[in-house]
Amino acid sequence: MTSRFDHVENRKGTNSMKWDGVDKLYGGNDLWPMWVADMDFKAPSEVITAVQKEVNRGIFGYPIRSASVDSAVQSWLKRRFSWEIDTEHLVYTSGVVPAIAQLIKRFTEPGDKVIIQPPVYYPFFKVVTNQERQLIENPLVYDGIHYRMDFDHLKSVIDEKTKILLLCSPHNPVGRVWTISELEQLAEICIEHDLLVISDEIHSDMVFKGHRHVPTASLSDEMKQRTITCMAPSKTFNLAGLQTSYTIISNPTLRRQFKNYLSGEFLNMFHSIGAVAMEAAYNEGEEWLEEFLHYLHENVRYVTSYVREHMPKIKVIQPEGTYLLWMDCTELGMTAQERKDWLTNQAKVALSNGIVFGKEGEPFERMNLACSRESVIEGLTRLKKAYDELS
Ligand SMILES: Cc1ncc(COP(=O)(O)O)c(C=O)c1O
Repeated sequence: MTSRFDHVENRKGTNSMKWDGVDKLYGGNDLWPMWVADMDFKAPSEVITAVQKEVNRGIFGYPIRSASVDSAVQSWLKRRFSWEIDTEHLVYTSGVVPAIAQLIKRFTEPGDKVIIQPPVYYPFFKVVTNQERQLIENPLVYDGIHYRMDFDHLKSVIDEKTKILLLCSPHNPVGRVWTISELEQLAEICIEHDLLVISDEIHSDMVFKGHRHVPTASLSDEMKQRTITCMAPSKTFNLAGLQTSYTIISNPTLRRQFKNYLSGEFLNMFHSIGAVAMEAAYNEGEEWLEEFLHYLHENVRYVTSYVREHMPKIKVIQPEGTYLLWMDCTELGMTAQERKDWLTNQAKVALSNGIVFGKEGEPFERMNLACSRESVIEGLTRLKKAYDELS
């Protein structure tokens, strides 16, 4: 049975970072791009229609916040996560990473410590160090199959300078969807040490059957008061270029402080078309998302069995969520740089080199599976050819 996701879009020549930026970053425009977290799919047709309607009006003046966007977000969170939020608690932002950077600036002083859990989404390092805050690493523990958090190590690195835990939930790149029990253990530590939690939940819509995303702020009243949740429709519906995201801040003091800070920095504007796209995606995009999740899961299954059969020295870590596949390449016996050269020059596939996610990621590669099966097969065929030439 064919799926709408089988359709291959030609994205070359569209100023796409994934397709047109590969040359500059990897040094070759003939590489098959399976790197940056950007889908090759068109957004749901309902989103395109809503955006077209807005574009057809032809006026792109300053927008004001609309109650219908607020309620689209509110009802999405309720339907998807059984999480009831007050729309007053929403603060719109122009991207999750910019929001995290601003939150760290507002809620810490230079020299304060922020904890991250590598291997993790690479901007998490710079949002801390670029602002002269101290980066504290609480690495995840990898047992060769699965990742877990190291709570004892976490407790050992917290001191009076530690102010924030920057959580990635679900986790990019290792694909974990944290269980309620893991999140509760984490919450206990954050409460005991009075940490503010910035919970980046941008991947929360992409969770496979058998797993459930639990918003950190929904764990308890105490966590609701100390968590700032960052979310967006951008990964889910391929809207990243519209720079539309939001934070949920239930603590009134934190919310007031952050809103005042954003207006003081003149960062409180949002994208009018992004808001239209978000509203349509949340109100009308659920069927598209369910179909995508099914398709994505089949991509994961396809890659897993192909790699197991044809490239046994590469080990696929089974993801519980996200469209990013984390692959253990230890047995290839290459350094990160050697692997990068091999992938670029021999395989001609652009993956995300694991080292960018922290030193623990050195023997890994991350593959983006938000693409058609045909694209997946093209990437795998190239990889296999280069793999066969190794021996
Ligand atoms: C964990 C995580 N946070 C944030 C982002 C990017 O968010 P934005 O484009 O809204 O800054 C990504 C993109 O891949 C991500 O994986």
